[in-house]
Amino acid sequence: MFQPAHPGEIEHAARLLRAGRLVAFPTETVYGLGANALDAEAVARIYTVKRRPATSPLIVHVASIEMAESLVAHWPAIADRLAQKFWPGPLTLVLEKQLEKQLEKQLEKQPVIPDIVTANLPTVGLRMPAHPIALTLIRAAHIPLAAPSANRFTELSPTTAEHVRRSLGSDVDLILDGGPCKVGIESTVLSLVGTLAESRPILLRPGGISRTELEAIVGPVASAQEVQAGAHPSPGLHPRHYSPRTTLYLAKNGKLPDQGQGIYLQHASPPKRPDIKTIQMPTAAADYAAALYEKLHEADTANVDWIAVDLPPTAPEWEAVQDRLRRAASNG
Ligand code: TXA
Ligand code: MG
Repeated sequence: MFQPAHPGEIEHAARLLRAGRLVAFPTETVYGLGANALDAEAVARIYTVKRRPATSPLIVHVASIEMAESLVAHWPAIADRLAQKFWPGPLTLVLEKQLEKQLEKQLEKQPVIPDIVTANLPTVGLRMPAHPIALTLIRAAHIPLAAPSANRFTELSPTTAEHVRRSLGSDVDLILDGGPCKVGIESTVLSLVGTLAESRPILLRPGGISRTELEAIVGPVASAQEVQAGAHPSPGLHPRHYSPRTTLYLAKNGKLPDQGQGIYLQHASPPKRPDIKTIQMPTAAADYAAALYEKLHEADTANVDWIAVDLPPTAPEWEAVQDRLRRAASNG
């Protein structure tokens, strides 16, 4: 059993963050590696510890809609509708960020997100996480927190404090334990840039909030692939990402590699080889997502030649799971 972080520990974590240090904290999706989003030096340490290229922007975590509004150039009505409906929760909204030069005209001093957080983009990804420890931490620190998933670049995201310890070890100043993450895969990333000019919102990364849920609030949503068509790639779409160290295959109808020993993550089809260790995955999409990284971490530490995953259905509620599996797989 885990030891949940207590209030004194969260206060301590908040002081570390204000002093420019790194704190890993639980969210409802995956664990985040947090730093003060207004402190460029602190954020630089995130990139170093993760070994993440500087071209990959970070999500900024807030504890209120007001905090989000203070960081952007405009807070459009569509952002408000989405935030009222889905925050706190697994939805990241990409908006035009507040720039220093726009502030010169204003009397009030407002915080500005440094360029390192957003990989020099003029936009910022914002989300209010639904984990009580995350919200208490942001409120106690009184600052927005830049936080990618708390794993080394391209590795599987952590869904327990133990996963963070194994991946980052002593490179992080403190790990707050909040138990296993309930959603289990990363937030949906939705760009609202251009929606003032009547463009559709763009789904940059499927995740904890489904396309169907979004479309019920804002109407049709475009896919990143449709919008890009050869133009500069979206930073949200690193093709290989979220991978275990062990080679991962997507299996159809229980067909497995002939060679070597492996682990099979079964959804519906039983394995064609009887000698293979099989883990039964949950049937429903949300339960499957919540278990996926935990089971992949488990399979990854078992020292086998490969992991094979019985491909779940392609129905809309499976979009985020399908996306993560295809990125993790060598035959995806
Ligand atoms: O659930 C989550 O989102 C977790 C927890 C910790 O909140 N965080 C997470 O962060 O998954 P990370 O860094 O692993 O993924 C952030 C994603 C990337 O795909 C990045 O490209 C995209 O968000 N992103 C962030 N800011 C962006 C921006 N300004 N424009 C486009 N994409 C952005
Ligand atoms: Mg990540």
